[in-house]
Amino acid sequence: MTKKILILNGSPKKNGNTAILVDWFIQGAKAKGAKTEVVRTDFLKYKVNGCISCRRCQVSDIYECVIKDDAQPVLAKMNDVDVIVMATPLYFYGASAQLKLVMDRMFSLFKWDNDNDTMTTNLKNKTLVLIGSAYEDIGLKDLENPFKITAKYAGMKFASLLVPNAGESGEVKDIPGIKAKTIAFGKKMAG
Ligand SMILES: Cc1cc2nc3c(=O)[nH]c(=O)nc-3n(C[C@H](O)[C@H](O)[C@H](O)COP(=O)(O)O)c2cc1C
Repeated sequence: MTKKILILNGSPKKNGNTAILVDWFIQGAKAKGAKTEVVRTDFLKYKVNGCISCRRCQVSDIYECVIKDDAQPVLAKMNDVDVIVMATPLYFYGASAQLKLVMDRMFSLFKWDNDNDTMTTNLKNKTLVLIGSAYEDIGLKDLENPFKITAKYAGMKFASLLVPNAGESGEVKDIPGIKAKTIAFGKKMAG
């Protein structure tokens, strides 16, 4: 089965470490016949700053954000793909704000029925992938945790490629073996 993979690149750097890792990941995924699409989240134009907790998504049957801006079709697409990749530089032990703006809007992809204590989501059984890089060798596990537990909460499978000591933007290329490792990871996620 051809896997559909949606990749959110949350870095503001066009040719930065995240973009390089994403390119290698795609190389691997395409080698396995996957269909890939990349969204540079820093280019999305928003009507509001992040999720505004309007909760209008919770009174709609549709698993989409009601705010009609650039993030809306990206969120809607998450319902249809097999794998969602979140790629981000480590910014102060967390994801970039550019990625987080989209992530919080994923509230609309869940429906909660608090009276019956139930939650439904189309994300169930899909795979969430984190690709994260950092200048140093600390903080990546802190970055990983919210992604990992969110995936578990949503009933998604989870995998990550964490790249410490990636240096400044572009320097990830200098890590011995990282290209092959990332391509292999892309192949695995598409398999
Ligand atoms: C605002 C900001 C915060 C950062 N915080 C950290 C950090 O806490 N720990 C770390 O190791 N690197 C940190 N870095 C470095 C980046 O995570 C690292 O260079 C990353 O690989 C850059 O990816 P990019 O080229 O795709 O932007 C930070 C960089 C910026 C610009």
